[in-house]
Amino acid sequence: MRIAIIGGDGTGPEVAAEGLKVLEAVAEKVGFRYETKEFNLSGDRYLQAGGDPKVPSIPVIHDSEIQELRTFDAIYLGAVGHPDIAPGILEKGLLLKLRFTLDQYINLRPVKLYPGVWTPLKDKGSDDIDFVVVRENTEGIYTGMGGVQYKDTPQEVSTQINCTTRFGAERAIRYAFEFCRRRNSRKRMVTLVHKTNVLTYAGDTWFRAFNEIGEKEYPDIKRDYNHVDACCMWFVKNPEHYDVLVTDNIFGDIITDLAAIIQGGLGVAAGGNLNPKGVSMYEPMGGSAPKYTGKNVINPIAAIAAMAMLLRETGSHSNDAQLTEAGNRVEAAIMAVTPMMKSQAAGQMGYSTTQVGDLVVRAVRQS
Ligand code: IPM
Ligand code: MN
Repeated sequence: MRIAIIGGDGTGPEVAAEGLKVLEAVAEKVGFRYETKEFNLSGDRYLQAGGDPKVPSIPVIHDSEIQELRTFDAIYLGAVGHPDIAPGILEKGLLLKLRFTLDQYINLRPVKLYPGVWTPLKDKGSDDIDFVVVRENTEGIYTGMGGVQYKDTPQEVSTQINCTTRFGAERAIRYAFEFCRRRNSRKRMVTLVHKTNVLTYAGDTWFRAFNEIGEKEYPDIKRDYNHVDACCMWFVKNPEHYDVLVTDNIFGDIITDLAAIIQGGLGVAAGGNLNPKGVSMYEPMGGSAPKYTGKNVINPIAAIAAMAMLLRETGSHSNDAQLTEAGNRVEAAIMAVTPMMKSQAAGQMGYSTTQVGDLVVRAVRQS
């Protein structure tokens, strides 16, 4: 297996290093080989190369670099984000660019409250918070379609088009049903999240695709539907209701931040940008956290969980049982370590970044 590493900005390289430590340990344990190559891609590099911090002026990533990334089995990302660079430049120039050009059409966000991790939800525990959000990752209002007219006049008009295709909805929906089968939990249920009562065109495309595909191809799986606003309420009141959810790009963006906080926050939440037949990219959900950079206090659990996902999903996309096993072992090791930590917040873990990584490595070795 060949993995491209993008440490990125701020604390990104620190947490990625812990994930790589765990990878080394689990590869030894399970007995597979891998290679890594580091890519210098970051807000820092953009500025050093003369990029304008206010407007996009040079590429954040070059086409030749994207071509090279295509040759890897997976991409492992620390964090990209720079306090001096205007919002949108790095997001569009790197993250969204990679999602779109590598056609990473699924954003997979497991939401699991690990043992011993504090949740702001009163009376809810690890048995209650364990679901997966499948977010469509290449369409909706993220495509950048639309524009602005009469800018800086009182008549200014802007549109941002919610580009929804049957093709895009279908492939996300099928992925969710397949994932639900593979997960095989007691609930065996996929919940579609949209806003069909107001988005009567785009919502209807999703709704019909969901029910037609579910009925014909996945009769063994229960179908459920929530409006997105109601879903936010249920995440807080009854998170135990959920098994697998599928939703469009912007709704998925929003509900997965709510989901991240109920699973213990950005220190633990990991995500994957997946193209099951191409190159997928895995990352901790937290940002580059400039104020914690270089202090050895940031929580590496999310980055290690992203590594577990990388192993498990690469294993499942390529039918490699060893990699899947490695991913499961890393997740089990995380679950052995979280109860030992005082908190999942940066600087309050009771351990440093590297010590938490060492604890997970030890748990992998002992597994
Ligand atoms: C995420 C992030 C991105 C998104 C940003 C950084 C463009 O919030 O991965 O959820 O909106 O998709
Ligand atoms: Mn987001």
